[in-house]
Amino acid sequence: MIVSRTLLRREFLCGLVAVGTVPVFVPAPGLAQRHGVPPLKSAAESRGLFWGAAIQHAQLDDDLEFAALVAQQCSVIVPEWEMKWAAIERHPNRPNFSRADAIVRYAQSLGLALRGHTLLWHRSIPDWAKDELSGPHGWDLVASHITGMMQRYGTAPFLQWDVLNEVIEPKDGRTDGLRQSPFLAAFGPDYLQRALKVARGAAPGMRLYMNEYGVDYDGSTERDRRSVLLRLVETLKNAEAPLDGVGIQGHLRLGDEHFSARSLREFLRTLANLGVRITITELDVRESDLSLPLLVRDARVADEVKRYLDVVLQEPALDGIVSWGLSDRYSWRTTAALEEKGLVNRGLPFDQALQPKPVTTAIVAALERRRPG
Ligand code: XIL
Repeated sequence: MIVSRTLLRREFLCGLVAVGTVPVFVPAPGLAQRHGVPPLKSAAESRGLFWGAAIQHAQLDDDLEFAALVAQQCSVIVPEWEMKWAAIERHPNRPNFSRADAIVRYAQSLGLALRGHTLLWHRSIPDWAKDELSGPHGWDLVASHITGMMQRYGTAPFLQWDVLNEVIEPKDGRTDGLRQSPFLAAFGPDYLQRALKVARGAAPGMRLYMNEYGVDYDGSTERDRRSVLLRLVETLKNAEAPLDGVGIQGHLRLGDEHFSARSLREFLRTLANLGVRITITELDVRESDLSLPLLVRDARVADEVKRYLDVVLQEPALDGIVSWGLSDRYSWRTTAALEEKGLVNRGLPFDQALQPKPVTTAIVAALERRRPG
């Protein structure tokens, strides 16, 4: 174990302890505020919620300043890709857990919890498995993957696991609105319940979630997705499938989006009344006009997050919020096309210099407006 003093900063007196390849930080007691804004996790915890962020192994390994910000701001972290099937099992029967384990060690060293993301996602099936899913042993492959992941990561410090990710797609034309994925093609609609049951059997104490996008605004597409999701959750709960919660990804978009606070509130309440908890799992904002002055761009992002959180935070079934990244330094919303133009999407809580923005203040203010408890 190598110990070397690294970042000596106002907020942190950090001892870098390299356990494996990801540094772990021992933050000084009494975390200082970052430029007058309390840590997001403190504002969330004061209202009975957690605040988390998606991170990548390389970000923690290579960027000690960023790793320190994560430690200061978050009570939960989510591996952005390291726990997806295609990342774990690139080669059949040779799962590689090294990056995922390093992220877990980082969390454990700081007393952070984790959200597991995600067991079955049509966009992260190992290439070798795609051809075998519809074969005679297809389900054995899926069950073995779920079981292996839940036996390794199905207890504390994990809070919740996205067992099923993005399984609905009304545009695929099915009456049940399910996505025409390789999983559906190979196993039929029952794969949803079967996957949840295998996960429950392997990790009886873990909260099992289905995670979805595209239900935040009030356009016709979103309204279709909301009704399909509600019907699916009701079907699963009526069948006594072990579904504990639903992740609402919360990928917000600037532009002429149809937003209705009333219909979003009604959707969340209807969802909760089906007997599931709710987590906002991937909050970020995709900007529409990056040519505007930074002050204008940041104000628009802050306003969009404020109006969304003012609705979401009033839902009693909400357990926490995860942003899909913590700093604009690392955002999947900064596409290669933007990078080629030297542009960065500014849709996350902290800027590239890891400094708070108007949206940071807006998040804290929205949390403080939530009724306690
Ligand atoms: C994205 C990651 O952010 C990217 O780095 C990766 O290349 C693709 O996956 N919904 C999800 C997440 O549930 O897993 C996706 O994450 C973003 C959309």
